[in-house]
Amino acid sequence: MDIPSWWPSKKPYIIGDCLEGMKKIPDNTIDLIITSPPYNNGASGLWGHLKPKKYGKYSDDMSQEEYCGFLQSFLTEGMRIVKKHIFLNVLMSTGNKEALIELIFHNRKSLKDILYWIKTNPPAQIQSGILSPGVEWILIFSKETPNDRCFRGIGKPGNWIPNNIITPVAKSVDGHGAIFPLSIPTWLIKTFSFEGDIVLDPFLGSGTTLLACRETGHLGLGFEINPEYEPIIRKRYMANVMNIEGFEQKSV
Ligand SMILES: C[S@@+](CC[C@H](N)C(=O)[O-])C[C@H]1O[C@@H](n2cnc3c(N)ncnc32)[C@H](O)[C@@H]1O
Repeated sequence: MDIPSWWPSKKPYIIGDCLEGMKKIPDNTIDLIITSPPYNNGASGLWGHLKPKKYGKYSDDMSQEEYCGFLQSFLTEGMRIVKKHIFLNVLMSTGNKEALIELIFHNRKSLKDILYWIKTNPPAQIQSGILSPGVEWILIFSKETPNDRCFRGIGKPGNWIPNNIITPVAKSVDGHGAIFPLSIPTWLIKTFSFEGDIVLDPFLGSGTTLLACRETGHLGLGFEINPEYEPIIRKRYMANVMNIEGFEQKSV
């Protein structure tokens, strides 16, 4: 698997801000973007009496306007560099619901469809009077005929693909509190791309998407702003990429 000349690093991931990093990626070079951004679940009230979820120094606590602007900046850059689809996994919460609705409305012409990740082990009710979040959305923004819902050239003969519900079993990863199950990026890659395609995860977290890329024979690239997660990413992924020519050869 050859690494393209524009690749911004000697590694499959970059520790840094994706909003800056994505600017260095040329137009129409990434086949799929698969990602789960921070949900803005900080101190804005979602978790009631529970401790807000934080990613190290990153507080995850913007206003609805700021959060919408943050996701819009990501989406604008993402749509510039992607060839096909962006899969954006989000969980509606108090801290982000206005922002998400605004984002969807503003980008409605690019919204191709929505997948629903049904949780086999939904969290208990987090606060009196709040519905327990048993489902997350995977918003699909697309450059491929977004005005219809038909995905071209994928799936089985006859363009058969499964329905819009996925029910993966989540497993925790030491040191990161907000991962998605490995089977989500794996299923998306297998369903919506071809071997050798390039996949980007701008909000890499523990590196799950890179792991899925490795397991499916795809070239993966990721950004993660929090350096504390680098050892986790390396541990999960880097020890196994020695066969990809051009990447830094280091073990964990
Ligand atoms: C919901 S988690 C992603 C979890 C990931 N899907 C996994 O399975 O591990 C979101 C991640 O985005 C990171 N992040 C937040 N802002 C970022 C930015 N501007 N650039 C890159 N990473 C960012 C956070 O540190 C956090 O690890």
